[in-house]
Amino acid sequence: MTKIALITGASGGLGQALAKKLLSEQWGLILVGRDAARLNAAYGVAHTQIVADCTTADGAKQIFEQLQSANLAPTALAHCVGNIKLGALHRMQAADFMDCMQANLFSAFYTLAAFTQHLKQAQLAGSAVFVSSAAAQIGTPNHEAVAAAKAGLEGLVRSAAATYASASIRVNAVAPGILDTPAAAKLLSSELMREVAAKQYPIAGIGAPSEVADLMVWLLSSAAARVTGQVWSIDGGFASIRPLVR
Ligand SMILES: NC(=O)c1ccc[n+]([C@@H]2O[C@H](COP(=O)([O-])OP(=O)(O)OC[C@H]3O[C@@H](n4cnc5c(N)ncnc54)[C@H](OP(=O)(O)O)[C@@H]3O)[C@@H](O)[C@H]2O)c1
Repeated sequence: MTKIALITGASGGLGQALAKKLLSEQWGLILVGRDAARLNAAYGVAHTQIVADCTTADGAKQIFEQLQSANLAPTALAHCVGNIKLGALHRMQAADFMDCMQANLFSAFYTLAAFTQHLKQAQLAGSAVFVSSAAAQIGTPNHEAVAAAKAGLEGLVRSAAATYASASIRVNAVAPGILDTPAAAKLLSSELMREVAAKQYPIAGIGAPSEVADLMVWLLSSAAARVTGQVWSIDGGFASIRPLVR
């Protein structure tokens, strides 16, 4: 039987890298995005494509209603929806903060709720992986909104992992530093900015979405069958070590 994975934010940089890796590991794909044209630009007409906005409870439910009608039952969820809203707390507009919470936290809550409901109804085991950020684990300037949203996401991951462990549903997250994707385009818009960004990591560099995708594929796979409730940093040591100053 083909293993089926559902990717949200599938037209984004990480979503596309992940789709490529999952395909190479013989997963069937269900690709979710808010915009049919963006999905089409990334994948043509390949795979099952669903246009939905999972930042609302109804949008997330619609994904699984459509899958039920098509008799498709994913057992893996990779939630790649999110954005990076930067700006000092006192200058952040309420609308931008809400957008950050909706994209990074509420979407995760609603999508995981709909996914676990689907698995429980079908009596299937499964696995979900989310994308946090190094900014949830270490204080970095001007990251208040995204740090709050991603820290909430990490709490969601641990609690849901506990709730659903007995149903063999695993829930984990990865926590990257800056990745070379459209979400970080403004931060990496000149050679100088790239150089400065790269230097802040103990292991210097800008993260490649394919590296993060490799870790996500492993977390979804049966090789990680006893891994749940974890947040895996993939940030060149940024959130956890201080190297010697030279
Ligand atoms: N890039 C980085 O430096 C970095 C660092 C740490 C964590 N992350 C996280 O990594 C994940 C993947 O992001 P990415 O780097 O691949 O960025 P990306 O290329 O911008 O993709 C993000 C996807 O999220 C969806 N999205 C963005 N804003 C949204 C909103 N307001 N409401 C609903 N959907 C929205 C978009 O999907 P549609 O196609 O549906 O519009 C987009 O395809 C995100 O959770 C991000 O927070 C990224």
